[in-house]
This record gives sequence, C-alpha cells and structure tokens, in this order.
Amino acid sequence: MPPPRNRTETIPVLLLGGPMQDVWLVRELLVDHGAFHFTLDHRPSLEAALEGLKENHWQAVLVNLGPEATALRIVRRIRRECGDLPAVLLSESVDQAQMGRAFRAGAHDLLDKLELGSHLLVRTLRSAVERNRTAKQLLQERNLLRNIIDHLPDLIYAKDRQGRYILGNPAHAHHLGLPSKADVLGQTVHDLFPKEIADVLNADDLQVLHTGGRILNREEELPTPSGELRWMHTTKVPLRAADGTISGVVGITHDIHDRRRIADELRRANKELESALESIRKSHDDLKDAQMQLIQAEKMQSVGRLAAGIAHEVKNPLATLRMGIDFLRQQHAARPDNPTTGVLEEMSHAISRADGVIRELLDYSSARKASLAPGDIVSVVQHALRLSSYPLRSGHVRVRLEPAPGLPLIPLDPIKLEQAIVNLLLNAAHAMPEGGELIIRITPEASPPDMPHADGDRSGASTRLHGPHLLVSIADTGPGFTRESLEHAFDPFYTTKPTGKGTGLGLNVVRGIVELHSGTITLQNRPQGGAEIQIRLPAPAT
Ligand SMILES: Nc1ncnc2c1ncn2[C@@H]1O[C@H](COP(=O)(O)OP(=O)(O)O)[C@@H](O)[C@H]1O
Ligand SMILES: [Mg+2]
Repeated sequence: MPPPRNRTETIPVLLLGGPMQDVWLVRELLVDHGAFHFTLDHRPSLEAALEGLKENHWQAVLVNLGPEATALRIVRRIRRECGDLPAVLLSESVDQAQMGRAFRAGAHDLLDKLELGSHLLVRTLRSAVERNRTAKQLLQERNLLRNIIDHLPDLIYAKDRQGRYILGNPAHAHHLGLPSKADVLGQTVHDLFPKEIADVLNADDLQVLHTGGRILNREEELPTPSGELRWMHTTKVPLRAADGTISGVVGITHDIHDRRRIADELRRANKELESALESIRKSHDDLKDAQMQLIQAEKMQSVGRLAAGIAHEVKNPLATLRMGIDFLRQQHAARPDNPTTGVLEEMSHAISRADGVIRELLDYSSARKASLAPGDIVSVVQHALRLSSYPLRSGHVRVRLEPAPGLPLIPLDPIKLEQAIVNLLLNAAHAMPEGGELIIRITPEASPPDMPHADGDRSGASTRLHGPHLLVSIADTGPGFTRESLEHAFDPFYTTKPTGKGTGLGLNVVRGIVELHSGTITLQNRPQGGAEIQIRLPAPAT
C-alpha cells in the first residue's frame, strides 16, 4: 500500500558530494514548494552516505560527485546496494551521449548544474520519487500474483497465439515431468503430449483464440509422464492484450482423478446395491410364494389323508354290499320277471359309481412318487386316447393328434402320465357333450415363455422350468373355463359337474403328476373359444 499522501508531504533527499556552495544552492532551490516539503541531507562521500542509509529514509539522491566515470560508478553502486533509491546526476555540462550513459547506468535523470532552476529540480525529484513508488507497487503486485500462481496446486499456464507456452507454474511443470516452470516456456502441446491428445488440446486453444469464448469445466483424461491417464478438469479463457485483442490463451487445470474415481466407485456400488436390493425383494416374493404353496400343500395333505382314510373305510363295506348283491342276484336270476331284479341292478350301478369315486380319491391320495425313465410321450398320449375312446366317441368328439416330428424321449412315468392325460381327455369330453374337436399338439420348445400370463390364465406350476422341454397342448372347442373355474380348477373337490359325474379331483391329480415330472401346467381359454391346457415337461438338451 502506498503511504497516504498528506497535503504537505515531506520528502527527505540526499545530496552526495560537491562543495558547500552547492549544498546551499540546492537547499535554496528546494525551499517552499507548495504541496512538497523537501529536507536535504548532505554527505561528502558514498561511504558516508551508505552508513547513514539505514536511519535516514531518503527517497532520492542527487549525485554531485567527481568526473563522469566516477559519478556513473556511484550510480551503479547505489542501484546495486540500495536498489530502489532513485539517483539524479548533477553535471556541469550535459549532452545526448552523456545522457544515454547516465540512463544506462540506471540514473533517473541528468541535470545541468548551470541551468538548474527551482522548478526543474523539484519536478525531477518528484517524478523520481513517484516513479519509484509506482515501480515498487508494480513489483509488489507482480510478486503477489507470482506467489499465488506458483503456490496453487492447480496447473496454470498461458500460451501465445502460436500455441507456445509463455507462462507456467511449478504444478504445471511437475505434471509434465519437467524440472522447473521455465522449462515449459516456448514449447507447444505437440512437444509435450502424444499427437492425438495434443491435437485435441490444440483444437480447444484454437477455439478460444478464434471465438474469444471460454471453455468451461472440460473433463478429460490426460497422460502423466509415466503414461498414467488421469482425469483433469480444465477451464480456458482468452488472454487479451492492452488493446483488447486476443493475444493467447490462459488455462487452469485441476486434477480430479481421485474424486472422479470415488464418484465412479460410488455409482457402481450404488448400482450393485440396487440390484442386490432387487434380488432381495425378488427372493422375498419367492419366499412368500413358497410359503403360500407350503401352506396349501400342507392343507392338501391333510385333506388327502382324510380322503384316503374315508376311502379305505368305505371300500370294505362297499365290497360287502357288492358280494351281497351278487348273492341276491344269483338267488333271483331264475325269475327275470321278479321286480327285485331291477332294484338289484340299480343297486349294483350305485355301488359301481361309489367305487369309482373311491378309486379317484385313492388316486388323489396315493403316494406321490413317480419312477421316471426315458419314454415316448406320443405313445403315452396315444394309449390315453385309446382308454378314453368310448366317452370321446359317444360324444362325437373328433380327435386331432399332431406331434412334431423327431421328438426326443423324455424322462417320464408312463402309467402316471397316462392317468393325467386321461383326466384331461375326460374333462374335454365332458366339456363337449354335443360334439366338437379335440386338438393335441406336442412340440419341442427351447425355453419356457416368460410368465406372467395374459389375463385369465392360471398357472398351476409351483416349479419354474428352465431350458428345453416338450409342450403338450390339449385344446377343445367347448365353452372354456369360467372365471371362477379358472380360479379354482386345481382345488381338490372343486367341480362344476353334477354329483356322480365329477369329484373335483382330476386337475389336482394332474398337477401332482406333472410336478412329479418337474413340469408345469397352465390352464387358459383360447381366443377362438374353448379351453387349452398346456403341460411343459423337461426334455434333454439336443
Ligand atoms: N376342458 C375343460 N373345459 C371347461 N372347463 C373345464 C375343463 N376342464 C376342467 N374344467 C373345469 O374345471 C373343473 C375341475 O376339473 P377337475 O379337477 O377335472 O374336476 P371334475 O372334472 O371332477 O369336475 C371342472 O368341474 C370344470 O368346471
Ligand atoms: Mg375331471
């Protein structure tokens, strides 16, 4: 900060050498000059002056000593030893050549003693003091800026219009692997970076030079001398000359590598966390499903045990009844007109029906185990069709069996699977009492379709299929499932059929058998009408 200017500022001046008359003369000339008050000290020699330098805060020195060569030597010494003290030479004759030598030696001015007037002397001393102050201030400012630039950890640099570095700081030199900031001066990015990177950097510089715009917050990967790429953050602005024209580019670059790595890692960790959360959510859902299925299975098992118990209990009395009827039939066979014969016939029918129900109940509750061996699904279906031929034929149902060619053998239990297919064929026959068409297709599939199903589908699968399998589709042209039957068809004892025709156990048994084959079963209605039951059974990979 410059000292505050009072209206009357005191400026101490040193007069070096010369006779006493000169001292009196100069003192005379400096008296009373308005805003400026000069005090004058006199020292006969430079040595005497240097001694008094510390305690006297002279702001200018008048050198009135010896021949020219001596005077110039003194000026140089003053500049050397008291750097910023401006020296004004007093001489008896002044010409251009002398003037030039004085300036080169570092003198502020050279005055002709013979022409010395008060005005000239005061003006010269004032300008010397002012200029000195301004120079000091500039130096201070420059040092401050230099200090800031040199101590910032960011890379700071400037280039001229030709892309040559005209300034750099130690951080910049360090990043480039150069010993000092001076080593960068005069070089271009093409001297310091691989070509493909230099081209990009240079393009940015040219953009700033040509548009006068700024490049803000560019993030780019730059190589270090060891070849490691680091993420850097750069801002570039035009460097303007005093007249406003663009004379170059100033840049500041900040190493954000660690920050960016942490941010990247955080992002990745976050993603992993999200997917972990997603799979936890999914396994939670699966668990809930499994739990529901377990509860259901538990219920079914107790129902099954109950049913088996009842079936066994009822089977024996039924057998007794049948034996009784057979006995009575023999007794009355001789008399066909006897009305008892008709009654016995009806009783025998009733027992057969009851026996059928009991057999289905026992099927339902029979040990849920299958012995799987490679088998031909087509012949299983054909056998089931033969077993069901009577009800199908009597209902005028046309049957189309369309197996794809070259189907592989798959692990199956022929007896159980046949029982399942028969159940489905009978359901179809029941659904088409007035006739219709039954279409059975068997096709290989690479991987199961992605469930969830279209609205109204019902999957009876408690397992999920993976990989190749055979799709057995049994479709009919009946009325299809109702909303309610689709919902409950797998429930044991759920039936929409009149007593004696359905037990409501068929589909439950079918599902059990399909699951013993690690397969899935889906009930749905066909768009064109009618029900379609799809069974998928795992097949060996081809
Ligand atoms: N092909 C089909 N078309 C229409 N509805 C069907 C079909 N198959 C089964 N259903 C419905 O599902 C119910 C349950 O079938 P199921 O378990 O085999 O028992 P049941 O045949 O003894 O009634 C049937 O009563 C019927 O309402
Ligand atoms: Mg049935």
